[in-house]
Amino acid sequence: MRFLALLGMTSIKSFYIMVNYKNLGLVNTREMFARAVNGGYAIPAFNFNNMEQLQAIIMAAVETKSPVILQISKGARNYANQTLLRFMAEGAVAYAKELGCEHPEIVLHLDHGDSFELCKNCIEMGFSSVMIDGSALPYDENAALTRKVVDYAHQHDVTVEGELGVLAGVEDEVSAEVSHYTKPEEVVDFVTKTGVDSLAISIGTSHGAYKFTPEQCTVDPKTGRLLPPPLAFDVLEAVEKELPGFPIVLHGSSSVPQEDVDTINKYGGALKAAVGIPEEQLRKAAKSAVCKINIDSDSRLAMTAAIRKTLAEKPAEFDPRKYLGPARDHMKELYMHKIINVLGSNNKLAE
Ligand code: G3H
Ligand code: 13P
Ligand code: ZN
Repeated sequence: MRFLALLGMTSIKSFYIMVNYKNLGLVNTREMFARAVNGGYAIPAFNFNNMEQLQAIIMAAVETKSPVILQISKGARNYANQTLLRFMAEGAVAYAKELGCEHPEIVLHLDHGDSFELCKNCIEMGFSSVMIDGSALPYDENAALTRKVVDYAHQHDVTVEGELGVLAGVEDEVSAEVSHYTKPEEVVDFVTKTGVDSLAISIGTSHGAYKFTPEQCTVDPKTGRLLPPPLAFDVLEAVEKELPGFPIVLHGSSSVPQEDVDTINKYGGALKAAVGIPEEQLRKAAKSAVCKINIDSDSRLAMTAAIRKTLAEKPAEFDPRKYLGPARDHMKELYMHKIINVLGSNNKLAE
C-alpha cells in the first residue's frame, strides 16, 4: 500500500482487495457439487450476517466433517458491510483449521446477485462462487446477463449459479408476490446458452418464515399445526430428466421449526402461522440432483428464540455474550441437525 501511495495512486482500496479466492483457502462449488449429485446428498448453503452465525456454521461443519457454503445476501452486505464479511470468511478458513479440520471445504458465495457489476466486484474481492439472479427478467435478458457473468467468472475459476422460475416470498431485499414454477422445457436451452455451473429452480419453496398461507395448508388433527402442501417433485423430476446429473439448487428451504416459533411466542414474540418446508421433503430432494439447499430463516428463528428465552429468564443480564453465547450454541445445534439429519453432507470432505 505504501508503494501505491508513493506512486500517487488513489485506488488503493480496489488494489488492496483484488484477490483470488484460492489464496484465501476457499474452494469453488464444482467438485463438491459433482460429489453431492453422485452421492445423493446436498451441500448446506447457510447465510451469515454476524460473527455468532459464522462461528456456529464453522463449528458445525468441522464437527460433522461437512463441506459448507457461506452465503452473503444483499441484506447482509447492507447490514454488516461486504468487505468485513469477506474478511470474516477468510478468517473462517483459519478458524476451521484451528478447530482441527486440516482441509476445510468452504465456499464463499454471493446470494441473489442482481447485477454484473456486483458479481464482478465480489469475484475480485475473493468470492469463490456467485449467484446471478435474473429470474425476474424476461427469459432472454436473464440468459444474456447470466452468460455475461459466467464469462467473467470462469476466467477466475469462480462458479456461477443461475435461476429459472420465480420463488414467492418477501425478505428485506428479495421479494415476489407469487411463485412461478420452473418450466422444464426451458432448462436445457438456458444451461447451454449461459454455461452456468448450477441452476436454482422453483418447485414451491419460498423465502422467509411464512412460506404458505393458512388457506394453502391443511390442519393436522393431532397437533392443530398447519401442514403445507407438497413440493412439485414432478417439476424437479422433469428437470432432472432434461439435465441428467446437472447440479440443481433449492432456495427458500427453511423448515421453520415449530419449537423455535413456540419459544419465540412464549417469550413475547408474535409469529403467527409461520410455516416452512417439512424436513422429509428436503431429505427427498437432497437425494436427487438437488445438491445445494439454502437455509437462512431457520437460523434467524433459532437465534431469536434463544435470545428471547435467555433475556426472559435472566432479566438482569446485560452482557451480550451471555445471550449471544446460548444463541450461538442453539444455531450450531440447528446447523448440525440439518447437515446430519436432513442434507446428509456429514463425512463428505474430499480426503
Ligand atoms: O434469499 C434471501 C435470504 O434469506 C437473504 O435475505 O436479504 O434479508 O438477508 P436478506
Ligand atoms: P429461507 O428463507 O427459507 O431460509 O431461504 C433462504 C434462501 O433461499 C437464501 O437464498
Ligand atoms: Zn434465496
